[in-house]
Amino acid sequence: MSVPILSVHNLDYKYTQAPVLKNINMDIHEGAFVGLVGPNGSGKTTLIRLLLGIQRIQSGNIELFGTPIQKFKKWNKISFVSQKANTFNKGFPATVYEVVSMGLTSKKGYLSFFTKKDKEKIIAAINSVGMGDYVHQNIGDLSGGQQQRVFIARSLVSDPELIILDEPTVGVDTENVERFYNMLSRLNKERGITLLLVSHDIGTITSYVTDLLCLNKTIHYHGDPKTFQQKSDEELSNFYGHSMHSITHQH
Ligand SMILES: Nc1ncnc2c1ncn2[C@@H]1O[C@H](COP(=O)(O)OP(=O)(O)OP(=O)(O)O)[C@@H](O)[C@H]1O
Ligand SMILES: [Mg+2]
Repeated sequence: MSVPILSVHNLDYKYTQAPVLKNINMDIHEGAFVGLVGPNGSGKTTLIRLLLGIQRIQSGNIELFGTPIQKFKKWNKISFVSQKANTFNKGFPATVYEVVSMGLTSKKGYLSFFTKKDKEKIIAAINSVGMGDYVHQNIGDLSGGQQQRVFIARSLVSDPELIILDEPTVGVDTENVERFYNMLSRLNKERGITLLLVSHDIGTITSYVTDLLCLNKTIHYHGDPKTFQQKSDEELSNFYGHSMHSITHQH
């Protein structure tokens, strides 16, 4: 198999005395669409922040594209979409085009001008999330789900190889959540972009992801989502905690 694009070995982490992550070991290979699930406080966001270098690792190690995170410099290979990105108010003075173009300025620097090719890229990214009709609309006038699609477009213009999304569909209605996951699935299948998606919605994401990762301080399951769903209630509660059964059997 190819070198994993993301690899975690023996990772432990604590903010204070109590460990938040314990003995995390995982590999994510190119082309995977990984769903990361776990109850509130199970360490999902902490793990993501460590993977993105926002928080420093304390013990164990992380390799990104084969390079130890301490030496990793090619951050433009990785994009991040957070739940909190979704905070534009009505009247925020930026159009969809301008918001998406910000995904390039971080790569090019704020004072550089966009070339024709950059502009085409920005429009292509907007089209790929189905927001082509809204290019010149103000971002604040869009619905939450539409805004979130714009943030995905922003994360796409820099041509990332890996997109990490931390609960991007909070506040998005069911129909648009399905659309959103379909869009992610297309990016994964058609453009080969590797995805790591944090979600509480295990019942829905199992039909989209290639790998399911269940975290509760430590990794309780990493593998085929269908095998996970076939497990008995007892096994599921051992893996995950009691809140799990009804959710996994929704579909
Ligand atoms: N900055 C911080 N300082 C101290 N403790 C923290 C901090 N951030 C998170 N924690 C604690 O670490 C644990 C894991 O939090 P984390 O945010 O990683 O969980 P999560 O799985 O993302 O939860 P959620 O599903 O609610 O988003 C929790 O017990 C939380 O209280
Ligand atoms: Mg979180």
